[in-house]
Amino acid sequence: MPFVSDELYNDICMANDIVDYASSFLNLKKSGRSYMACCPFHNEKTPSFHIDRDKQLFHCFGCGASGNFVQFVMRMEGLDYRDAMRLLAERAGITIPENGIRQSTELTKRRDMIYEMNRIAARFFFDSLMDPEQGREARRYFGERRLSKKTITRFGLGYAPDSGAALLKHLISRGYSEEQIVDAGLAVTRRNKTVDKFRRRVMFPIINVRGKVIGFGGRVLGSEETPDGFKIAKYLNTPETPVFDKGSNLFALNIAKNTNETDLILCEGYMDVITVHQAGISNAVATLGTAITDAQAKLMLRYGREILICYDMDEAGTKAALRAIDIIAAAGGRSRVVRIKGAKDPDEYITKYGAAGFKKAVETAVPSTEFRLSLIKSKYDLNDTDGKIRFVDEAAQIFAGLGDPVEVEAYIKKAAADTGISEHAIFGKYAELRGRSRKQPPKTKESFKRREINRLNSQKPPEERVTGTVIEAEKRLLSLMAQSKRLCLKAAGIMEPEEFSNKIYETLARRMTEYAKRGEQADASVILNGFSGDPEAENTAAAVFFNNEVYSDNDETLYDLIYTVKQNKLDARLSASQNVEEIGRLIEEKESLERERAGWGKNGASEH
Ligand code: GTP
Ligand code: MN
Repeated sequence: MPFVSDELYNDICMANDIVDYASSFLNLKKSGRSYMACCPFHNEKTPSFHIDRDKQLFHCFGCGASGNFVQFVMRMEGLDYRDAMRLLAERAGITIPENGIRQSTELTKRRDMIYEMNRIAARFFFDSLMDPEQGREARRYFGERRLSKKTITRFGLGYAPDSGAALLKHLISRGYSEEQIVDAGLAVTRRNKTVDKFRRRVMFPIINVRGKVIGFGGRVLGSEETPDGFKIAKYLNTPETPVFDKGSNLFALNIAKNTNETDLILCEGYMDVITVHQAGISNAVATLGTAITDAQAKLMLRYGREILICYDMDEAGTKAALRAIDIIAAAGGRSRVVRIKGAKDPDEYITKYGAAGFKKAVETAVPSTEFRLSLIKSKYDLNDTDGKIRFVDEAAQIFAGLGDPVEVEAYIKKAAADTGISEHAIFGKYAELRGRSRKQPPKTKESFKRREINRLNSQKPPEERVTGTVIEAEKRLLSLMAQSKRLCLKAAGIMEPEEFSNKIYETLARRMTEYAKRGEQADASVILNGFSGDPEAENTAAAVFFNNEVYSDNDETLYDLIYTVKQNKLDARLSASQNVEEIGRLIEEKESLERERAGWGKNGASEH
């Protein structure tokens, strides 16, 4: 049972617009019939991501990501099909009727309630900070850290009072139950007693890109030791809740995403981000007390072209930076490292060298490869033969992990100049390692097509494997069928859906034919709904509708394509066959196909 009917899907999509929605994430430029931008799903510098407003579809000619509106929402927001549909319905003011989906609806209600409690809590913390009596100590603390009133307001910083259950009482007075407050992570129950989760801490609200307060970080005031000698955590975060996951959100991204800067600065802590912003640089974000995750890297790369890693320069910070470089690279992005020399962290650096000094450090951030090389360089004595050899060994390992051949060459030249070892020898070392590790080649249009063909063939016996020619022909054929019900019916008259080389195309042909037989024009976006949830199938299916080739004679082209498909299939079987009888039969089939081809399109032959 589909979650929404085709009709309702249409209503919801009509009331929205993929271009409107996408323009809140992407810098879309109109180009002919479509809109273009750099692809949000892979890293690129020249736009190959297209949105077709008429069809309400997206497609990237670089990485092959493709789909309809809902599928776009699913990927951008990381939602499942139902939640993406709900989001669109909500934007359109349409209610999706309930039918066996109670649980998810309850989850949505629970989430909304937590957002609301968090909003009230943030306000409460802020008011407590501003309260002349209650907030005195916290205000003094922020003063010592040189935060201005403006900065405090901008980040909505606050104070959680020491009284044990101040927020709890406040929320109860607003109609929430203890259980709900605990569910939001704002209170904890211990030995049957429920108390505030955050007590006597300065508070940092964490706000997502949609502007909702999803959780908090709370820092102890002053010392991390209680008067009676207990050690307490310097920072306390909201626990995992239905709206908060510390591994997939970032502090201050809600602000950083709105700047005109092309890159994002990644800091280690809340205070670093805040002082950097106060120094006039508003594209800084931080993870939420953990090492950077893949999800966070991807999230950042959605808003920043490059990530400038701005960690402490001590041993722990350097290690964390190396890890961040790897995770960002694995997510398909580039990074540079801001060198914080002469201070323990960005916060201290700004105090010492001022905003201008920090801006300079950001502008001169070194590319991650250079940073890694400089680290190994400092380990070895390059005046010593043994040192040179070890350096080249480690450097070659770094080169072998790089995706860009130009980058590899540039750094090999540099390493040769630094050591006096020939470029040729270093290249040899690199090539040897490269051959062993066989990293994924960079993603290009060609390799995307290749990958797709390999994938479509992967579960087939040899005689049923198809070539790129067949896939391309089938794709064009389907896009013609999608253009008009007349062409669709013509194709259906001479080629069965099962004759397509894969299940995805078969399903597309079948659904389009069903529509055409009912006298309706198939809508690409509606048909694609059947594939939601399987990104590879979505890509393959939606790419079909992105063929905007114009043919001088659609009917003849249609027949040519069908002929190509049928002929290629027979050829494949022929070349796989070992059996004389079968070979004879296949040759006959080929001959009869040729005769049939001559008749297609003549005197009603297409109607059988
Ligand atoms: P200040 O010490 O006030 O300057 O804060 P900071 O943000 O510079 O903190 P620090 O450099 O010590 O740590 C960086 C980040 O790690 C913090 O912002 C927190 O997110 C996290 N962190 C530090 N200490 C703790 C802790 O005890 N518990 C948890 N969960 N996270 C912590
Ligand atoms: Mn600090």
